[in-house]
Amino acid sequence: MTQASLEQRISKLIRPEVRALHAYQVPPSTGMLKLDAMENPYQWSDATKQAWLDKLADVEINRYPEPQAQGVKDRLRQVMGIPSEYELMLGNGSDEIIQILAMAVAGDDVCVMAPEPSFVMYQMIATFCRIDYVGVPLDSQFDLDLSAMLEQIEARQPALIFLAQPNNPTGNLYSEEKIRRIAEASQGLVIVDEAYTAFTDCDSLSLLGDYDNLVLMRTLSKVGLAGLRLGLLIGKPEWLGEFDKLRLPYNINVLTQASAEFALEHYELFREQTAKLRQARSSLIEALQQLPQLQVWPSEANFVLVRSLEKPAAELHEALKGAGVLVKKLDGGHPALAGCLRINVSTPEENQRLLDALQAQL
Ligand SMILES: Cc1ncc(COP(=O)(O)O)c(C=O)c1O
Repeated sequence: MTQASLEQRISKLIRPEVRALHAYQVPPSTGMLKLDAMENPYQWSDATKQAWLDKLADVEINRYPEPQAQGVKDRLRQVMGIPSEYELMLGNGSDEIIQILAMAVAGDDVCVMAPEPSFVMYQMIATFCRIDYVGVPLDSQFDLDLSAMLEQIEARQPALIFLAQPNNPTGNLYSEEKIRRIAEASQGLVIVDEAYTAFTDCDSLSLLGDYDNLVLMRTLSKVGLAGLRLGLLIGKPEWLGEFDKLRLPYNINVLTQASAEFALEHYELFREQTAKLRQARSSLIEALQQLPQLQVWPSEANFVLVRSLEKPAAELHEALKGAGVLVKKLDGGHPALAGCLRINVSTPEENQRLLDALQAQL
């Protein structure tokens, strides 16, 4: 087969919207100070690592996993204080849960809505599933534009509305009142995505009891278990029973189940690390605010959004990379993020390395 005929065959078979997509980009980071992916920088002590490895040694790798990962669910329920009237569904990261939700509603004339800018996977997954995506711009303070949201809900009747609380990449919380108004106006399902819940005092668990069309999504990625890939959906059993039919059997593998159970048994460790990161966030924001070349937004998450006011953001991003510091370039994505970079909050030492690099490159 010639190259031309191979390309022809691919373009005939693969949907045009898929061919138009770019795969999710993860830049190489070996040897870099990695501040681009909202990871927790802390390592486990040798004793904790050994206890974890001892537990893994007992895992029966030749067997399929427990299909419901009930042990993990029980621990999550305990650690997060999830009332017994709600069900949990686990995903291979919350990305998989977004995909399951989208697959469950996909069909003609269906759309998914999210405020913009927000987490890019809402739109990407809608596209994979052939669902229209409606992005409603946030206001100039990156808050929900309630009247625009309500107008679009009325006009488009979205099947799913994703609200990241706090939002990625802007780091702010929406008011509970606005979330309530959106849930009340929507015939579809509202997903409050609490990926960064560990870094804020706000949570929406109490909203679950007030609305039949609201569920919560969380993840263990941001607290320090990004490598495990474990996300969860929390909601009424009637909803979760439907979604669970689309979950691939055994989606949470044996190593993840054993590791998650272990980590959740030692959750104090993560609470301590999170508290340290929250403190480091305040100091980092204060220090960034001292740099007149940057606009800095407050944050309720483990990252900070900044705008480069003098040097083009792409140049600053490259210069930081050259200095061994990897942050996320948002400039060039959504227009509201022109000139913006997103910086992960890390240990005081790593934050200082970032500040030194910034000072040298701004
Ligand atoms: C708002 C939000 N939701 C969900 C995710 C996905 O998390 P994971 O798939 O690691 O659970 C992210 C990751 O960046 C996020 O920012």
